Amino acid sequence: MNANQALWEKGDFTRIASTMRQSGEKLVAALGIQPGMTVLDLGCGDGTTAIPAAKLGANVLGIDIARNLVEAGNRRAAAEHLTNIRFQEGDASNLAGIEDHSFDLVVSVFGAMFAPQPFNVAAEMVRVTKRGGRIVMGNWIPNDPTLVAQILKTSAAYSPAPAEGFISPMTWGMHNNVLERFAAAGIPAEQVSCIADTFVFESPKSPTAFVDEFRQYYGPTMNAFDAADKNGRAEELQEELKALFTAQNVSSVEGTTTVPATYLRVSVSV
Ligand SMILES: C[S@@+](CC[C@H](N)C(=O)[O-])C[C@H]1O[C@@H](n2cnc3c(N)ncnc32)[C@H](O)[C@@H]1O
Repeated sequence: MNANQALWEKGDFTRIASTMRQSGEKLVAALGIQPGMTVLDLGCGDGTTAIPAAKLGANVLGIDIARNLVEAGNRRAAAEHLTNIRFQEGDASNLAGIEDHSFDLVVSVFGAMFAPQPFNVAAEMVRVTKRGGRIVMGNWIPNDPTLVAQILKTSAAYSPAPAEGFISPMTWGMHNNVLERFAAAGIPAEQVSCIADTFVFESPKSPTAFVDEFRQYYGPTMNAFDAADKNGRAEELQEELKALFTAQNVSSVEGTTTVPATYLRVSVSV
């Protein structure tokens, strides 16, 4: 099986996504979505941004490599009686079957950044966007001190070395890489903007219990614990993450967790 697909099907990202809904809705509300617009959400998971876009009246296609998340997205859409959205399996680095220039807006929030072959991802996003349309990406920033960048950094430190030629997803959080990848897809730098923005994770559980959710359900952290277990370092990893989550928690309600995390918001005019 495709390693990228295996990584995201390993756990159940819906458990993490359920803590991301408010920021997902807020981000989508700022995108100027109008009824009837065509929106593609790449690496959509179970619809944190795709479902709010459909609720604003857009015709939405959500594409994700993880079949369990595609099913979860379709279940959520059905439960909300939304008929203007569908989720299907696909790879952001090869959108075979999707016609050129077919979407007004292509969104990918912490999604396409995880696909291998980032130059292909940029080229595919540009190819399927209508001229005059837009691409919006949310990408975690390497070495940023906030939650997700630190989880991924810590997880990588405990995981086996990646295969030769692997390009870290975090490189999508660097302005120069973003410009280079879109330039190769024919988009000049003046049409690309990158700003730092904040996504807030809100869990009804304590920071320690929230770490457990990542340990049990978030592919990159699950892999790190698998490797740490083999080296007798699982407890060390658990403590490191517990300290991180506790330090970043800004919730004033005992036993709950609220963590703001910084990301790079990329907007591309096509
Ligand atoms: C961190 S989750 C974000 C999900 C969703 N965008 C959200 O904000 O809730 C990353 C998502 O990207 C998907 N993904 C990873 N690699 C992919 C690829 N090559 N093509 C499509 N989706 C991919 C994963 O399956 C997962 O759903």
